Amino acid sequence: MSEGNQANSAYNKDNPFPARVVENRLLNRPGSAKETRHFVVDLGESDLVYKAGDSLGVFARNRPEEVAEIVQLLGATGDELVTPLRAPAPLPLREALGSALDLDGPTKKMVELVASRVTDTGQKAQLEGLLRPEAKEQLEEFLYQRSFVDFLADYPTAKFAPQEFVGLLRRLMPRLYSIASSPRVYPRQIHLTIAVVRYHTNHRDRVGVCSSFLSDRVAVGCTPVPVFVSHSHFGPPEDTAKDCIMIGPGTGIAPFRAFVQDRVAAGATGRNWVFFGDQKKAADYLYEEEWEDFTAKHQVHRLDLAWSRDQANKIYVQDRMRENAAELWAWISGGAHFYVCGDAKRMAKDVDAALHEIIAAQGRMDTAAAAEYVKQMKKDKRYQRDVY
Ligand SMILES: Cc1cc2nc3c(=O)[nH]c(=O)nc-3n(C[C@H](O)[C@H](O)[C@H](O)COP(=O)(O)OP(=O)(O)OC[C@H]3O[C@@H](n4cnc5c(N)ncnc54)[C@H](O)[C@@H]3O)c2cc1C
Ligand SMILES: NC(=O)c1ccc[n+]([C@@H]2O[C@H](COP(=O)([O-])OP(=O)(O)OC[C@H]3O[C@@H](n4cnc5c(N)ncnc54)[C@H](OP(=O)(O)O)[C@@H]3O)[C@@H](O)[C@H]2O)c1
Repeated sequence: MSEGNQANSAYNKDNPFPARVVENRLLNRPGSAKETRHFVVDLGESDLVYKAGDSLGVFARNRPEEVAEIVQLLGATGDELVTPLRAPAPLPLREALGSALDLDGPTKKMVELVASRVTDTGQKAQLEGLLRPEAKEQLEEFLYQRSFVDFLADYPTAKFAPQEFVGLLRRLMPRLYSIASSPRVYPRQIHLTIAVVRYHTNHRDRVGVCSSFLSDRVAVGCTPVPVFVSHSHFGPPEDTAKDCIMIGPGTGIAPFRAFVQDRVAAGATGRNWVFFGDQKKAADYLYEEEWEDFTAKHQVHRLDLAWSRDQANKIYVQDRMRENAAELWAWISGGAHFYVCGDAKRMAKDVDAALHEIIAAQGRMDTAAAAEYVKQMKKDKRYQRDVY
């Protein structure tokens, strides 16, 4: 499947395809602290094509309850015409808040505006206190715990006209998800593995816009979901004789389900080594039956699992890498490709550090030579990451 073919689709980010979700299944078992879901998106009659390693872009809608609350707090009806930033034409306030604007992410500017308008003297003093240069950290924490609706609800004497309020909001951006299926196995479907974001701050239950849209508000087989394929250079090696090492804890496993499906379907002769981890084996072993089956059939040649909360001390994927340092080095020095997907903030950095350490120790290199070796792996596209 060439990039040319993919680029020729009638559907893209500016003209997304209204797809149907045909499956929405919880992957975690009872006792889990997580909510990770498997979604199947039907590509229907569209000409959309994808390859293992690509991502799917999804345009979500905000929660109608939150939209209704904002309309009510603005003292509006929802029918008022407003023009969001860079919108081609005005649209009703309810629609702008529903699909065009991000209701999250207020900044210092919102605090300043509310502080300048609020008539309650205690609240004014509180907000002005947060705006002092020495209160930078408190202000950050205050903003992190709030979205725009909090300002309207908690400071009702600060008034905003609908157009002015809309002008404070950023555009709602599509969310990307690593594709968890191979087109060789599912040519007209795209599978996704999504952690649903739910949390509680400032006395409110909150949800992530897109993960909760797919989980809670899309009716299976009915609601059209605007999607596009985001083509990526991330992907299994073109030379199917190459070995692959795949590090994918949590939802980071998604593209590696696609890689393994793809390589099995292509009759790849290279070996597959998967590292997966999550909190508890009994509850969070995502796609357990599939991994056990791949392993039993020698389609996955090594499977190393790291359960972080099954014992007092944390065990992470990089601990499993270190335990298997000699064999890992044998694969890498033999030309294996090394892939990482999942959390960018902590996991990917720690895995990178473990990789450097293993190469230095096993390859008998000093730190600089190991760093050079890793740099060369990247140049050769033998070390690829899809982290977020
Ligand atoms: C290339 C790529 C691939 C990806 N693949 C996947 C994938 O396969 N699976 C997957 O699940 N995700 C994946 N993601 C992440 C995904 O795109 C979204 O970012 C994720 O689903 C959250 O989006 P949302 O709209 O549900 O939440 P949002 O509405 O964006 O909300 C998330 C925000 O909520 C806030 N928040 C979250 N928890 C708390 C808390 N406890 N307290 C205060 N604030 C909090 C944070 O500000 C956070 O940024 C990928 C991202 C990229 C870039
Ligand atoms: N932008 C967003 O809003 C958003 C939404 C969803 C996911 N994400 C990101 O995507 C990541 C994936 O989420 P997920 O729920 O699937 O999995 P996750 O939170 O990354 O957890 C998967 C496993 O990785 C472990 N882990 C924690 N820190 C680690 C580290 N430094 N090195 C290696 N492993 C580590 C976790 O252990 P413990 O938890 O027991 O420590 C858990 O066992 C999240 O961490 C988050 O950063 C972002």
